[in-house]
Amino acid sequence: MSSPHSQLLARLRDKSATIGIVGLGYVGLPLLLRYSEAGFKVLGLDVDESKVDHLNDGKSYIAQFGSDRVAKARAAGMEATTDSARISEADAVIICVPTPLNKYREPDLRFVVDTMDQLAPHLRAGQVVSLESTTYPGTTEEELLPRIEANGLKVGHDIFLIYSPEREDPGNKNYETRTIPKVVGGHTPACLEAGEALYAGAIDKIVPVSSTRAAEMTKLLENIHRAVNIGLVNEMKVVADAMGIDIFEVIDAAASKPFGFTAYYPGPGLGGHCIPIDPFYLTWKAREYGINTRFIELSGEVNRAMPEYVVGKLMDGLNRHGRALNGTRILILGVAYKKNVDDMRETPAAEIMEKIVGKGGQVAYSDPHVPKFPPMRNYRFELKSVKLDAVTLTSYDAVVLVTDHERFDYDLIKQNATLIIDARGRYRESADNIIKA
Ligand SMILES: NC(=O)c1ccc[n+]([C@@H]2O[C@H](COP(=O)([O-])OP(=O)(O)OC[C@H]3O[C@@H](n4cnc5c(N)ncnc54)[C@H](O)[C@@H]3O)[C@@H](O)[C@H]2O)c1
Repeated sequence: MSSPHSQLLARLRDKSATIGIVGLGYVGLPLLLRYSEAGFKVLGLDVDESKVDHLNDGKSYIAQFGSDRVAKARAAGMEATTDSARISEADAVIICVPTPLNKYREPDLRFVVDTMDQLAPHLRAGQVVSLESTTYPGTTEEELLPRIEANGLKVGHDIFLIYSPEREDPGNKNYETRTIPKVVGGHTPACLEAGEALYAGAIDKIVPVSSTRAAEMTKLLENIHRAVNIGLVNEMKVVADAMGIDIFEVIDAAASKPFGFTAYYPGPGLGGHCIPIDPFYLTWKAREYGINTRFIELSGEVNRAMPEYVVGKLMDGLNRHGRALNGTRILILGVAYKKNVDDMRETPAAEIMEKIVGKGGQVAYSDPHVPKFPPMRNYRFELKSVKLDAVTLTSYDAVVLVTDHERFDYDLIKQNATLIIDARGRYRESADNIIKA
């Protein structure tokens, strides 16, 4: 009789396997759709009933992954459920649950641990379990493995355990789930083989590494590389500004070097689920080894100072007109954390708005992607997006360009706003009403 391993490989390779995706957010939903499009039967599991209902009704809840794709997957047999017992139906279990920080900026693995505790009693021989949530090296082996083996299954023999980080760039039209290479590390060689077979069914290029820890560290290196370089360029921005030099002009000139330079751009502060959070997963784990991650801490410090820097520039601008921030009306342009998306997670706009309100300013915002300001973990603004026209623009004392969506009419803004604080380098030519931040 063939082993659980060879049966699993055969099912993954002939696409008769069922792929279970646990956590159907920004990472899990596109993966579910991709496996369905690749010809697999897919089962989605989430604790959020409204997401499950949406999917079973053939509807999306994330703008960038349209309802047409969900409806197609549904017609092809995709199902969603809140019942963890159904995970026994899946041959592959891919976990995409959140990995935030707690209030002490330490890893909060609650979601990963809770998910594993819920799934463990329903796991069976012949399954491959993949963790995709971003986390510190050692999580898969320290948190998942013992929970799986507690029920009598032997990892590497009965069941196969891998870590494969998600890579995504919301709003980037050049890449999609299928075309982003996938790094995979297994607990044993048999685990890795199962992992490669799992992802080869839906993704063009697989990049195997020697262990789950190497795969976990790979994801952190990628995100820390971004966080540190953004920190560097934010520091350069502050220096260049003091010297009367336009940092964007400098970056563009430096980027003409055909080797050894990669352009990163300054901004109003970090945003999104990954870059402001993930580096601190490594910082925390490194302490166990007596190591201080100084680059991470330093770039975190520089990047976290950016919202304050932007508000300082706003106050300078108002001051030129003999005004204080207290009592003025300020319009924020773009509240999503990056351009052309509706994603609000960790957006620096919220902190900038709070700082303005804290100094007695009144805030409003305009964002074509965010019609209503959603409730956030640390911020509450009962606001709706303001429609931009000449009359509206002139009625504010200043506008702060936080996120430079393509859908804004930049000429209209320039012609009508009394004062523009540009935190994105959108306006390259200087003008009396523009201050670069
Ligand atoms: N969003 C990105 O761009 C991105 C990119 C790379 C990596 N990641 C990482 O991927 C992971 C998931 O991120 P996301 O953006 O998809 O998060 P998300 O918040 O959009 O989605 C997570 C989903 O998991 C569900 N969930 C929570 N607990 C659960 C449980 N016990 N059982 C089943 N479902 C549960 C939630 O209801 C939610 O639907 C994180 O570790 C994140 O760091 C995210």
